[in-house]
Amino acid sequence: MQTRESSAERIEVVFTAEAIAAAIDRMARAIAADYAEADLRIVAILKGAMFVVSDLSRALATLPGGPRPTLDFMAVSSYGNDTRSSGEVRLLKDTSESVEGCNVLIVEDIVDNGLTLHYLQGLLRSRAPKSLKTAVLLDKPYRRLADVRLDYVGLVAPDAFVVGYGLDYQERYRTLPFVANLILPSGESAR
Ligand code: PRP
Repeated sequence: MQTRESSAERIEVVFTAEAIAAAIDRMARAIAADYAEADLRIVAILKGAMFVVSDLSRALATLPGGPRPTLDFMAVSSYGNDTRSSGEVRLLKDTSESVEGCNVLIVEDIVDNGLTLHYLQGLLRSRAPKSLKTAVLLDKPYRRLADVRLDYVGLVAPDAFVVGYGLDYQERYRTLPFVANLILPSGESAR
């Protein structure tokens, strides 16, 4: 499907809302199986993970015997307003509560070069959690610069610039209920 957003940019749907919901359901079942009896602290990374954490945490709540996680948030920025990562991660907001002694699950929307997640995993690990795992909706494994461990992956994204379901381009497109490839007027899409 092609959707014309403006005369300058085009988006092409990559993952429908239904495909995303199915992936989140699979992730929730895997997480519930691993944390059945355990306390769980979800740390979602804003802004991109806002929809993933919303749907994932509610999916967990509907699974019998699944964990009832507490939610906390961090905000980082590495992309600025560009389509390419600067490689420089800035911490914009830290967690509200200490993660020391907690089973922490980082929830991210996408992992691309991995530098953002590498920074976050290092920072949170230094704070002595009981355990630290990562759940990511979209894995883009093509241009990894950092060795990061992903414990739960929803979908493997194509090697293209994707927007929607939390992912933005210059703060636009985040609220799309699906994930799409953004094609710029120059024809550029991959990064
Ligand atoms: C995006 C995304 C990840 C990161 C992944 O965040 O939410 O946190 O980039 O990229 P990487 O693996 O190449 O480091 P962004 O910096 O765009 O901030 P946002 O979530 O507020 O849009």
